[in-house]
Amino acid sequence: MSDFFSQPRERIGTFPTPLEFMPRLTETLGGPRIYLKRDDLTGLAFGGNKTRKLEYLLADAKQKGATHFITEGGVQSNHVRQSAAAALLGGMRTELVLNSTDPVDQVPLQGNLLIDDLLGAHCHYVETGPDRKPKMAEIAERVKAEGGVPYVVVSGGSDAIGALGYVGMILEMNGQLVEQGVSPKCIYVANGSAGTQAGMLVGEALFGGGYAIKGYCVVPGGAEEITRDTLTLANQCAAHIGVDPVDASLVLCDETQFGSEYGCPTPAALEAIKLLSRTEAILLDPVYSSKAFAGMIADIRAGLYATDDAIVFVHTGGAPALFAKVDLLKPILSR
Ligand SMILES: Cc1ncc(COP(=O)(O)O)c(C=O)c1O
Repeated sequence: MSDFFSQPRERIGTFPTPLEFMPRLTETLGGPRIYLKRDDLTGLAFGGNKTRKLEYLLADAKQKGATHFITEGGVQSNHVRQSAAAALLGGMRTELVLNSTDPVDQVPLQGNLLIDDLLGAHCHYVETGPDRKPKMAEIAERVKAEGGVPYVVVSGGSDAIGALGYVGMILEMNGQLVEQGVSPKCIYVANGSAGTQAGMLVGEALFGGGYAIKGYCVVPGGAEEITRDTLTLANQCAAHIGVDPVDASLVLCDETQFGSEYGCPTPAALEAIKLLSRTEAILLDPVYSSKAFAGMIADIRAGLYATDDAIVFVHTGGAPALFAKVDLLKPILSR
């Protein structure tokens, strides 16, 4: 018997998120039947996949008596934006460590960073990604010295506790699939810091599903390294709730949509943003979901599915970054 249901959880999101059939998109692509799991609609400060992880991380922080919620990311991090909202609801002070090469007063206050600011988060800037961890450690020491209790959350909230959010998502989605009479061949999702896909793999091991789970790498590292990290995290999460290790052959990570760099949409990702917005009026983000969606389109065009097959795309949110990346969207804008 797994310990999943006894894990502490703070209800800060809007669940269940809808599982919706996409008729216009399906018709435009000529099948298979495409469904979206709308985790862009999880509520918390513009929604997205981090809400599910933060429900478990916040509960853990509260149990440990935390006064300060410390986490890290790029200036346009969705995880950071949602962490600021979660910590605020949990009555904690938020300390965000962000990396930017711009001078602090010139970092554009827009997109996710604008929301961090509106939520009253305290931002600390460092130059590079690797500088973030030592800065978080320094802040944690300062908090302790002042009598507070720091709670440090890794990038993307992707640890054994954060990944629990996506174990639960599988249970929620499986119920909706049964209700709607849908048996998907594959579930598509973006993979950044691996927590979402890792949690889903544990969820399928625990609750069943019978579908493939395919993750698209949006950070550098290559499929081999990201597959290894995803498996490691899935097994840490599984061990945390007393579930057997995940079958390594089920960890599918695809690097073909990464492009040239993190955060930079490829032509296929831009096409994906345009296609979904013009068919179903749903907005993908330029960093994560658009690249995974482009991978799903590529599979469809490669003839992987029959017209009456079903597939699900997990929309993990991130649209606030659209406002901060207008220049990169130019090829699909009218001017
Ligand atoms: C919008 C969006 N989608 C997908 C992901 C990837 O999730 P994970 O880091 O759990 O792999 C992220 C991570 O930051 C994200 O912000």
